Amino acid sequence: MHNKLPAINELLERLVVEQPGIPDDLRRAMVYTLSAPGKRIRSMLVLWCCELVSGRENSNARIAAAAIEMVHTYSLVHDDLPAMDDDDLRRGRPTCHKAFDEATAILTGDALLTLAFGLLAERIDDAAVAVALVRELAQAAGAAGMIAGQVADLKAENTEGCLESLEYIHIHKTAKMFRCAAVMGGLCGRADREQLEALARYGLKIGLGFQIADDILDVSASSEQLGKTAGKDVKAAKCTYPALLGIERSKALERQLADEAAAALELFGPGADVLRQLAFALLDREK
Ligand code: IPE
Ligand code: IPE
Ligand code: MG
Ligand code: MG
Ligand code: MG
Repeated sequence: MHNKLPAINELLERLVVEQPGIPDDLRRAMVYTLSAPGKRIRSMLVLWCCELVSGRENSNARIAAAAIEMVHTYSLVHDDLPAMDDDDLRRGRPTCHKAFDEATAILTGDALLTLAFGLLAERIDDAAVAVALVRELAQAAGAAGMIAGQVADLKAENTEGCLESLEYIHIHKTAKMFRCAAVMGGLCGRADREQLEALARYGLKIGLGFQIADDILDVSASSEQLGKTAGKDVKAAKCTYPALLGIERSKALERQLADEAAAALELFGPGADVLRQLAFALLDREK
C-alpha cells in the first residue's frame, strides 16, 4: 500500500501557507491544528476510492482529500471547546483553544471550514465535479449531517440512551463523513452510479465501526497512546457503545460492520482489497 501520508501532510500545509490575505495569528493557528499528526484516514479514503474506480489518484482527488480533512479538523477544534467536550489534548498537542485562546479556536474552525469549500470551488478542474463534491461535503458535514450528530451527542450526555439514538449519533457525527470521503473519491475518479452507491455503503459501515472503535479506545487506551485525553466519555457521561453494550458486544458489532463493509465492495472484485484491508485494519487500531 503506497504511503500517501507525507504527500497529504505537505499539501495541507501548503494550501494554507499559499492563501493570500490571512492574518498572521490566524494563519499560525490554522497551520498549528492542520499540521498536527492526524491519521488522515478520510483523506486517504478519498485517494484510494479514486484509485479504485479510475486506476490512479488525480489532482481533483488530492484537493477533495485536503478539503474533507480541513472540515474534519475544524470539527475537532470545535468539538474540543469548553462549551462542547472541553478537551486539552488533541493529536498529541494542546488543543487549539489551549495553545491560543477560545476566540482564535472558534475562528480557526470557521476558517478551515470555509477554506475547504473555497478550494473545491477554485481548484477542481471540472465544474460539474466541483458542484457534486460541494453538495456531498455540505450534506455530510452540515446541519442534517455531522452537526446534527454533534447536537444529539451533547443532548445525550447524562441520559441512559438507547441503541437507536446511539446509532443516530454515530452515523451522523462520524459515519456520514466517511461515506462522504468514499463518494468524493469516486466522484473524482468518475465512478458510475452503481459504483458510487457501493462506495457510499462501504463508507457508512466503516465510519460507524470507526466511531465504535473510538468509544472503545476512550475506555481502553491511554492518553499517550491516543494523543487525546482517554477516559473522558465516562467522565462526561457520554452515551457510547461500550457504556450501552459493553466492550465485547461493541467489538462484535465492529467486526460485523467490517464484514458488511467488505461485502459492499463486491462489484469491484479483488481490486478493492486495499479498502477491505482498511475495514479490518481499523478493528485493531491503537489510536
Ligand atoms: C476523531 O477522528 C474524531 C472521530 C470522529 C472519532 P480521528 O480518529 O480520525 O482523528 P485524527 O484526525 O486522526 O486526529
Ligand atoms: C467527535 O466525536 C466527532 C466529531 C468531531 C464530529 P468524539 O467527541 O468522540 O471525538 P474525540 O474522541 O473527541 O476525538
Ligand atoms: Mg464529541
Ligand atoms: Mg470529543
Ligand atoms: Mg471519542
